[in-house]
Amino acid sequence: MQDSYKAALEQMTEKFQRTARLAAEENIIPYKSEHGTWVTSPYDGNSWWTGGFWPALMFQLYAFSRDPFFLEEGRRVEALLVEEFRTYQYLNHDVGFMYLLSCGADYKLTGNTQSRLDTLHAASLLMGRFNPAGFIRAWNSPQQTGFAIIDCMMNLSLLFWASRESQDPRFEKVARIHADTTMREFVREDGSVSHIIEFDPESGKRMKEHPGQGYALGSSWSRGQAWGLYGFTLAARNTGNPEYLATALSIARNFCRHIRPDGLTDCDFCQPKEEERLDNIAGAVAACGLMELRFLTSEDAFMDAARTLVDGLLDHCADFSDASMGILTHCTASYHDDGAGRHTNITYGDYFLAEALAKLCGTDPMFWI
Ligand code: GLY
Repeated sequence: MQDSYKAALEQMTEKFQRTARLAAEENIIPYKSEHGTWVTSPYDGNSWWTGGFWPALMFQLYAFSRDPFFLEEGRRVEALLVEEFRTYQYLNHDVGFMYLLSCGADYKLTGNTQSRLDTLHAASLLMGRFNPAGFIRAWNSPQQTGFAIIDCMMNLSLLFWASRESQDPRFEKVARIHADTTMREFVREDGSVSHIIEFDPESGKRMKEHPGQGYALGSSWSRGQAWGLYGFTLAARNTGNPEYLATALSIARNFCRHIRPDGLTDCDFCQPKEEERLDNIAGAVAACGLMELRFLTSEDAFMDAARTLVDGLLDHCADFSDASMGILTHCTASYHDDGAGRHTNITYGDYFLAEALAKLCGTDPMFWI
């Protein structure tokens, strides 16, 4: 373990020992930190797709520090998320992110049996979104019955977990069908990936690509690239399927070609050169995916690239001061600002930074598997 990574994780732990208490006092789920305060999600209340990253962050810090405050704080928000099962209308394919990282993480760390049942419940909700025409439906609007998105590759982890946990192959079969469709329809020749593809919900035929959170139709939104990289790596680890591994390698090599000299990550790899638009969440997610890919392939270049990304974040964009609540700066939710945050601290950036540091320190409990 390199001392600088351990020192950074210790600084993270100390900062959240102070600032997470303020979230607990208000009984909120922090979404981002701005002007020295916590801000909750801009849409859909506690059902917003990012809710699981706060408990995941708390559980990561608990695994590292064993400070019981972090377990308690993770569980406070886990309980809020479980209440969201009743809203149904706002929950979408991101129940993978929301519940594997909250209830699933609690179960993994503590063996809490109710958390296990809640995670299986979430897996059933995700499987209920499967269209037998060949994909998992992303969102709920009646205009989007055929929409699937690259981000869902991360949510498949919940299905792989559920098959192992329940000894029932249905979940994994659905995950494999969705991953096969994604491999065929989203991944381009050069290893870049599309964000949103619309299918005919009756036949499963590909209809068209839609612009998503990146710069333009057909561009390469960096967080989408990172979701694809890490998602296919996890699918390869979960199944042993060499095609998923080859896909992860192709996306990873393309991502590595776009790492900036300072280690930070542009919001879109096709954005105009004169635009300084960063998304450090993409860099943190990719660093985690690259380290897992190094684990699967023994290719040291992936570890070197992951270190470049983490070093860039720590050297230029980590705020451990008391002036703010969170740590990772210059996170951008969407290239064309959708109100969810641009060049600011966003909680899931902090989560993936913590996961990356924990991997480098050998303390990551690996909530995705
Ligand atoms: N899953 C949506 C996003 O990455 O912003």
